[in-house]
Amino acid sequence: MSNRARLEVLLALINLSAEQAMALYEQVDGTVPSIDSTEFHPLDEALDQVELKAAIRTLEGTCTQLCTTLAPPGHTAINLVQVYDYSCVRLAVRENIINILMDYPKGLHVNELSKEINVEPKKLSRIMRLLATRGCYSEVAKDVFASTRLSLVLHSENPVRHMVNLHAEPASKGGALIYENLKEPQTAYFYHPDHCPVMDANNKEGITGAFFDWMRQRDSTRESYHRLIQRLSIIMGSSAVLTQFPIDKYSTVVDVGGGIGAFSLPFAKMHKHVKITVYDLPKPLTQARMTQVWARDCPEAVQENRVEFSELYFFTQAPVPGQDIYYLRNIIHDWPDEESLVIPQNVRKAMGINSRPPPPYDYVVRQLNREQAALEASKFGATMAPEPMLPNFGVGNMRMYQQDVSMFMHNARERMLPEFLELSDAAGLKLEKIWDLSEACVLEYIAA
Ligand SMILES: C[S@@+](CC[C@H](N)C(=O)[O-])C[C@H]1O[C@@H](n2cnc3c(N)ncnc32)[C@H](O)[C@@H]1O
Repeated sequence: MSNRARLEVLLALINLSAEQAMALYEQVDGTVPSIDSTEFHPLDEALDQVELKAAIRTLEGTCTQLCTTLAPPGHTAINLVQVYDYSCVRLAVRENIINILMDYPKGLHVNELSKEINVEPKKLSRIMRLLATRGCYSEVAKDVFASTRLSLVLHSENPVRHMVNLHAEPASKGGALIYENLKEPQTAYFYHPDHCPVMDANNKEGITGAFFDWMRQRDSTRESYHRLIQRLSIIMGSSAVLTQFPIDKYSTVVDVGGGIGAFSLPFAKMHKHVKITVYDLPKPLTQARMTQVWARDCPEAVQENRVEFSELYFFTQAPVPGQDIYYLRNIIHDWPDEESLVIPQNVRKAMGINSRPPPPYDYVVRQLNREQAALEASKFGATMAPEPMLPNFGVGNMRMYQQDVSMFMHNARERMLPEFLELSDAAGLKLEKIWDLSEACVLEYIAA
């Protein structure tokens, strides 16, 4: 294929995937969103966004590949590093700018906004203009800013905001230490979770242990973390397991490291015949019980004793035996290889011969080598992008690689398929199938 022909295929894919996305919005309520919409579209918070995410994966991958091909490299290189969006969003979140703007549907002048949050107006207008250029707020008249659909996720009641905060604060501080971590002799070849970039950058109190130990002693950070995890499953697309995986034929489910129930709560709402056990550390379980998360959003599951909250330290304890499903979401990725193996080994001890699908995980980092990607596609059903896209969908799957670096900051990792296979072999599990949810995956295992 000539260079021009390749670019023309990318253009056709952009068109096709954008049309698919528009049709999906229209199917829901007959409309497509605009950049300055001031309300969420009903599809924005849907549990199952698999089709939309598949279209966006192609759209983002092809648009970026096209721009990177046609722009001068220096232009693209500077765009990669001259990024201050997270600092600007940090201000917006800390000062609850969206909460204020919600009271002014026609917009608020930056001079008024500056009085409310005590930030010098000329400086503030520059930050607001950067964000509005991204579609976060709109400048409806000179220096007058109003909310947009994108800015709504920064509202104090929206759980995505907690995720934004995690990346804008502790994660970005950890990210600044990656080079030093790779080069300094005491950290370069070392994978202990207690001394990792995110702990070195944030653990000013000298707390002993890993990130979860640090959070144990910081109530508001921990509570905010567990709220963000609730929303993360929609962002990553893993909540689609509830509709895409034939989970309704099972009657007992164990959610290992289930937090405050980001998976279990919508699951209990949807499948009323299932008995669920949520395992975690004591404080997240207290948050699940005490903050009324369940009492408010799924009181019937508590009243009917369909959900039980139990303490379980997954490095040293096995869950209750003989349940149908042992679910582990976003658990293995928090730990280096040595610790990661112990968790499925403990789960394997509990599994009966009929237990399925033990245990699913989430991101499967995709191959950039087309031959290897094709092998994984034919053997396990992993999805591969068509040429001339990169086989991993390029920037369409960028969060997976960003997330891997986020985990790097914990001395942990997201894993590629061969690494999952190594881990499951060692834990006595056999991979049957990969369920691609257009970003996150479910790995279905049986006992080996
Ligand atoms: C990334 S969160 C995943 C939460 C949930 N599975 C989800 O995806 O919605 C990791 C969870 O592991 C729990 N955890 C961390 N260390 C643990 C340990 N040693 N034993 C049991 N749970 C632990 C945390 O409290 C947290 O809820």
